[in-house]
Amino acid sequence: MQRRATALRAAGARIGFVPTMGALHAGHLSLVARARPGCDVVAASIFVNPLQFGPGEDLERYPRPFERDRAELEAAGCDLLFVPPATDMYATEARTFVVVDELQDVLCGRSRPGHFRGVTTVVAKLFNLVQPHVAVFGQKDAQQAVILRRMVQDLDWPIELRVAPIVRDPDGLALSSRNAYLSREERREALLLHEALGAARARLAAGERRSAPLCAAGVQVLSRGERLRSDYFEIVEAATLAPCDPVRGRVLIAVAAWAGSTRLIDNLVLDVRDDGVSDAEL
Ligand code: PAF
Repeated sequence: MQRRATALRAAGARIGFVPTMGALHAGHLSLVARARPGCDVVAASIFVNPLQFGPGEDLERYPRPFERDRAELEAAGCDLLFVPPATDMYATEARTFVVVDELQDVLCGRSRPGHFRGVTTVVAKLFNLVQPHVAVFGQKDAQQAVILRRMVQDLDWPIELRVAPIVRDPDGLALSSRNAYLSREERREALLLHEALGAARARLAAGERRSAPLCAAGVQVLSRGERLRSDYFEIVEAATLAPCDPVRGRVLIAVAAWAGSTRLIDNLVLDVRDDGVSDAEL
């Protein structure tokens, strides 16, 4: 992969890159489209990264429909697919990890210790192998996108990081490879995550700026789900993930909850001003 990327660069090609763990859905395919402008070659990777799964998480049962993924990527206009085996990505003697301090410990980092260290380490390795000019990540994993942007800045990588909007089912459920685990009932209750975000947004639009009542409005919606267990519902500054109270500026409203044994996340990015609230980008 590295030789191929070096040759492409030497020939003057600009490389766009979409790292994935496979089990692709329309959200992933939208990342391929987002990588295209300004790039001559769009590369994707499929690698179920063991380093970002904690003990007891779903590494073994994570879906791996490789042939379907490959065909969908090709149909979406992906030019180059990199599928390294875990034994190539992690030599047993590897002792180097990439850690983005502090940002990795909040929100999802609290209940998934080590997760973001796994993400930043593998993405750093993938960047060194694929040598992209542009890399695209989904807003669905908002904390991941913020952390990776910080990593790119802190380590001086000449990579433009693009964040693509969340793609949802028509009823509002954010697409996720893990939605495949949900029973009918769990899927129905999973819709409450989106509804909870909407409830906080409605309170913001009505003028509320205190974080506690805004989050309480979200948690109250989540509590209607009998099979739903809330992990967190928080409002933070979008750029820094720092707590934000009163809620002002570009903010991330983020929610995580378990539907049965499946952990789901969703979020909204908003620009909150004195005179109103509008959608914003990460
Ligand atoms: O978002 C994902 O699918 C993964 O965290 C990533 C970025 C491919 C790293 O393994």
